[in-house]
Amino acid sequence: MKFSVEKTRLNDVAQECLILFAYGEEKKEKDKSVTKLQWEKSVAGLENILSDLEKKKLFSGKKEEIVFLRNHPFGKTAHLLFVGLGKKEDVTLEILRRGLGKAARRLRQEKVGNAAVFLPSLKRNSWSWGKGGQSVTEAFILSLYEFKQFKTKDEPSFEMDHISVVTEEKNLSTVKGGVARGEILAKAQCLARDLQNTPANELTPEKLAERAREVAKDAHLKVTILDETQIRKEKMGALIAVSQGSTRPPRFIVLEYVPAGKAKKTIALVGKGVTFDSGGISLKPSLQMEDMKYDMSGAAAVISAIKAIAELKLPLHVVAIAPATENVPSGTAILPSSVVTAMSGKTIEIDNTDAEGRLILADALHYAGQYQPDVIVDIATLTGACSVALGRACCAAIGTDEKLIAKFHQLGEEVGERVWPLPLYDEYSEDVKSHVADVCNAGKVRGGGASQGAAFLKHFVPEGVSSWVHLDIAGVAYYTSGDLSSYVPRGGTGFGVRLLAEFAASLV
Ligand code: BES
Ligand code: ZN
Ligand code: ZN
Repeated sequence: MKFSVEKTRLNDVAQECLILFAYGEEKKEKDKSVTKLQWEKSVAGLENILSDLEKKKLFSGKKEEIVFLRNHPFGKTAHLLFVGLGKKEDVTLEILRRGLGKAARRLRQEKVGNAAVFLPSLKRNSWSWGKGGQSVTEAFILSLYEFKQFKTKDEPSFEMDHISVVTEEKNLSTVKGGVARGEILAKAQCLARDLQNTPANELTPEKLAERAREVAKDAHLKVTILDETQIRKEKMGALIAVSQGSTRPPRFIVLEYVPAGKAKKTIALVGKGVTFDSGGISLKPSLQMEDMKYDMSGAAAVISAIKAIAELKLPLHVVAIAPATENVPSGTAILPSSVVTAMSGKTIEIDNTDAEGRLILADALHYAGQYQPDVIVDIATLTGACSVALGRACCAAIGTDEKLIAKFHQLGEEVGERVWPLPLYDEYSEDVKSHVADVCNAGKVRGGGASQGAAFLKHFVPEGVSSWVHLDIAGVAYYTSGDLSSYVPRGGTGFGVRLLAEFAASLV
């Protein structure tokens, strides 16, 4: 699918379909509330169509509402599609993305190959034209994503080939920049989804490392992949402990982006890469165990985010670190009660082999220290407790820097990957104390699992790094009971890719 930006007059748009936005506002009229359609610009011919639709109750401009008018020519186009944005003052980029996601899917279903989107001005909102253009590309690419790699019968689904974004001359270059940015970000998110959706027998730790190597080659990143021997040599005792039950060896993946000019900051992105989490000897119940192929979603997010960051050419030094392993039971698997020594030298009592994410992150966080990062962000499907607390609406942010957490919260709202803070009180650190070792991998008391996980990780945040945040994405990394939204189809969501890349962009 190709994107272009043009300054065509509406009547001259030559695509098959013209996509237009309208606002709908609840108004009181004779004691009842009615939705009033609003069109931001008077274009002869369009007003009548809209009022006709309103009269026939076919469209009221509510957010995420669309109406497709097949063979309803306007200017040179054959069809029209209206997207509702709701109340003008309340429009957000997420509303734009969700509405356009619906539109994109409808057009594919209707086998319309190309369309023009007339970018709304959204004057009263604070976002720029560039962000508008970016959201258009994101919505189209992300909503039309499909994972068909393992289908042998080629079910040819219709593919849209061209989207043209129409805007005024004065905004042309800003919108072009935004559209290009959206393409980079959305494609990176699709890469993460591909990695997530790939089944566990295919995407082994070795394969994940190979895929990371390909990404590095494409995006001109430095790549270091430690094999089992090297992992032992580095004394990553916690990662070894998790991996030792499997015949498939672990990998420790490091991608590094060094900008052309001077880097303004160094950031480390650390992602959990458990390619299958059966729980190990502390075996999980079989119901929905298959979903544990998604336990590498954090790794997928950091690998894809660094690719986007490199393609955006941000003036930052960025390191993506992804420890990759399976967690399965066998005669060689680590036993509950075991004590292992992490790379940092701290000892860990392993009470529950199913709390493996924090173990591999312990070594990865410590490893990040050698880059002397200004910020460390880790992202992981860490705890079922997090998904119980927050569901699929947002991920949790827990860390040592309140400003950083506030920043993630604000970015999350804009990106449509929401972030909500959870606490890191001393009580949670008490919960993960051990009687035999420095720290225990499972909480001694019930409740507060997500914060206990973070309290454990805090032990391994390198000294001198005061800005660290842990994003627990257990509830948002995948969604299997249907689509999550118009532009987040069932399966791996790719959550975190745009969030991390936008975070990086916000630092420059
Ligand atoms: N990968 C799981 C967490 C998870 C659960 C992610 C459900 C997505 C959906 C993690 O490794 C795990 O099993 N955590 C345990 C920790 C506990 C044993 C302290 C959990 O949440 O039960
Ligand atoms: Zn687990
Ligand atoms: Zn896990």
